[in-house]
Amino acid sequence: MARLPLIATAVLALGNTVLGATCGSAGYDPANYVCWQNQFLCPITAGEPLSYCAGACYTKFMYKCANNVLTLLPSTDYSTPFTLTVSNPSLPAIDGKPVTAGGQHWSIGGVTSSYCPVAQVGSACPPGNITAIVAGAGGAAMDVMVPGGQGVYLRPDWNVGYTQAHSAYIPPGSLTTGFGAYVGGGFVNLNGNGWPWVACPPTASGGGGGVWNLVAKNSTNAASLNLCTPVNLKINPLPQGTYGAWQYT
Ligand SMILES: *[C@@H]1O[C@H](CO)[C@@H](O)[C@H](O)[C@H]1NC(C)=O
Ligand SMILES: *[C@@H]1O[C@H](CO)[C@@H](O)[C@H](O)[C@H]1NC(C)=O
Repeated sequence: MARLPLIATAVLALGNTVLGATCGSAGYDPANYVCWQNQFLCPITAGEPLSYCAGACYTKFMYKCANNVLTLLPSTDYSTPFTLTVSNPSLPAIDGKPVTAGGQHWSIGGVTSSYCPVAQVGSACPPGNITAIVAGAGGAAMDVMVPGGQGVYLRPDWNVGYTQAHSAYIPPGSLTTGFGAYVGGGFVNLNGNGWPWVACPPTASGGGGGVWNLVAKNSTNAASLNLCTPVNLKINPLPQGTYGAWQYT
C-alpha cells in the first residue's frame, strides 16, 4: 500500500485465501488490513488502520464519519497555531516525535532552532523551543513574530523548507500551496496525487544524531525513498495568540 487514501478508497474485497485471519468468509493479512463489522476490510497505512464509513475506508487525519456520511474535517485557519508530531504506531523509533525546524528545513525529532533579538524584544520573546506552524487555504507558514513572517514550502527535492526571516526568497521549482491542515486531524501534502509523507532514517554517513528526515513522496521519487516509512503528521493545536518563536533559523 504505497499511497495514502487522500480520497477515501474503496473497501477491499479479497478472495477466500486464508492469510492468517478471516473477515466474514475472506482471508486477510492482519499486518496489512483491518476487518470492520466482520465484513469490511480496510488497509493499514502509515500504521493507521483505516476507518470504515458506508462503503469507504478513510484516514482520521483527514476525514470524519457522521451518520454514515464521510466528510472532510474542517480546515485550520491562520488564527490557530499548532505543532506537528509524527504518527506511525508501527514505527516506535519516531512515533510521537515532533517535527522540528532548523536550518530552514523541517526534520523529525531534532532540536528547534530559533532566534529572538532580546535587546529589542525583551520579555516578549517566546521561548522558541517548539516548532509551531499556521496554515490555511492550502498554504502554511511558521508561527513567528518577525515582520514579514516565514513561509513554508516544498523544496524542489520535496523536503519541507521555510523562508529566512526578512527574505521572501524561495528556490525556483518549490511549491507553496497544496497543503491540507485539518482541525482534529493532520497536516497533509496534497501535491503529488495522494502519496504520503515519509520518514527517512538518519544515514550512517551523515551522522544524523537520531534525527530523521521528512520527505513528501511522489510517483518519481518513490523508488529512491524505499528505505523511508510512511507517516502521518498529527496537528496539536496551541492556544490562539501563541507564537512559536520570534523567528526560526
Ligand atoms: C520551552 O521553554 C519554556 C520556558 O523556558 C519551558 O517552560 C518549556 O517547558 C519548554 N518547552 C519545551 C518543549 O522544551
Ligand atoms: C517528486 O519529487 C522530486 C524530488 O524528490 C521532484 O524532483 C519531482 O519533480 C517530483 N515529481 C512530481 C511528479 O512532482
